[in-house]
Amino acid sequence: MTNKLPRHVSIIMDGNGRWAKRRGLDRLQGHKAGVESVRAVTEFAAENRIEFLSLFAFSEENWNRPQYEIEGLMELMIDAIIGERNTLMNNNIIFKVIGDFSRLSKKLLDKIDDIQTSTSVNSGLTLIVFLSYSGKWDLINAFNLYLDCIRNGSNSIEDTFDPQTLEKYLSTSSIPDPDLLIRTSGEQRISNYMLWQCAYTEFYFTEVLWPDFRKNDFKLAIDTYMERERRYGKTGEQINKNN
Ligand code: FPP
Repeated sequence: MTNKLPRHVSIIMDGNGRWAKRRGLDRLQGHKAGVESVRAVTEFAAENRIEFLSLFAFSEENWNRPQYEIEGLMELMIDAIIGERNTLMNNNIIFKVIGDFSRLSKKLLDKIDDIQTSTSVNSGLTLIVFLSYSGKWDLINAFNLYLDCIRNGSNSIEDTFDPQTLEKYLSTSSIPDPDLLIRTSGEQRISNYMLWQCAYTEFYFTEVLWPDFRKNDFKLAIDTYMERERRYGKTGEQINKNN
């Protein structure tokens, strides 16, 4: 049993579309309802002193959705960032966005920049939103950044390429790997999320659709995680001896 709270919990928020369909609503209504769940899990993480909470809000592959849905989702992100500013400041939350910024609008980038700067003075929970992100993009981007450093002379070709070197160039270099990854809506796959970073992450899948996910669902996931034994390839005996 880890018995320890996870330091970093990440969530693949899934099922907004199905939630809306079951109610005869438009998909965007499902995403809108999902913002309430974002509020609930953020509050829970802050109350329970979880250090990092990250949310997969929009994948690289999501750019292939119908234009009206993409635009609606981006508007929702902008509104949420503007609307939650005081709550983030009052609750000492650091807000970060990770992803391929080259595809985001100037309007959204300005809002992101503004909120990241304002909340950087805080010292409580770090809330990270993955936007226009994919694990493969992150890896390729890291390799390209590394190559740029070789080209401009700040790295020499003799330098060994090891896991620590790669991690320095990943978009997640300033945050620990997730201890627990939750995916809602009954789907059980990683969907090109943090491919490198989830090497030893514990997975938790629930049938609950994201707009219905509340603090009690989050607590159940955390309790389940705390019952698990994390062995990192070692034997149970080795782990118990070190505890
Ligand atoms: C997946 O459900 C969900 C998304 C692609 C968007 C999640 C975004 C939000 C909840 C918006 C707010 C976020 C923040 C951080 C302010 P789906 O549409 O794939 O559902 P389906 O599989 O049932 O169709």
